[in-house]
Amino acid sequence: MQVSMTVNGEPVTQEIEGRLLLVHFLRDQLGLTGTHWGCDTSNCGACVVWLDNEPVKSCTVLAAMAGGHEVRTVEGLEKDGVLDPVQQGFIECHGLQCGFCTPGMMMTARALIDRDPDPSEDTIREAISGQICRCTGYTTIVRSVQWAAAHDKATEAEAAPEPEPAGSAS
Ligand code: FES
Ligand code: FES
Repeated sequence: MQVSMTVNGEPVTQEIEGRLLLVHFLRDQLGLTGTHWGCDTSNCGACVVWLDNEPVKSCTVLAAMAGGHEVRTVEGLEKDGVLDPVQQGFIECHGLQCGFCTPGMMMTARALIDRDPDPSEDTIREAISGQICRCTGYTTIVRSVQWAAAHDKATEAEAAPEPEPAGSAS
């Protein structure tokens, strides 16, 4: 069968088998290997991508079900060669060791911060509770997400227009 969707902002049309999972479609047919496949039980969360801006485990979605929808993967976080603050946060705060869980963690983190710009530690831990990291003990992942949230706010403040000097209005 033929399926069409948008992946990281680009329209994609491919021939697929109806039983093909989205994780394998992204990795094997599109070469987007940033999305990892870590289990056969829908437990690890290494495969998290966005489907219409919502994080989903792409091993639980058929590629055919993504037809007509927008998919975003970790490769789509960077903009114009600039890392997303979530990606930078994982670098700054050592949020990874082997890196296997990292793409899924980043996709969940970005969606969380978009929804809640100042998430508490408990909120971050709850958001990533469906994902497993065997290396970090999660503490540095939480710090990375907090770094990204703070950096988002700083960037927004920099981008805000300067207030008009008092008495300048005509
Ligand atoms: Fe483990 Fe999807 S590959 S939850
Ligand atoms: Fe190794 Fe998370 S960094 S599984």
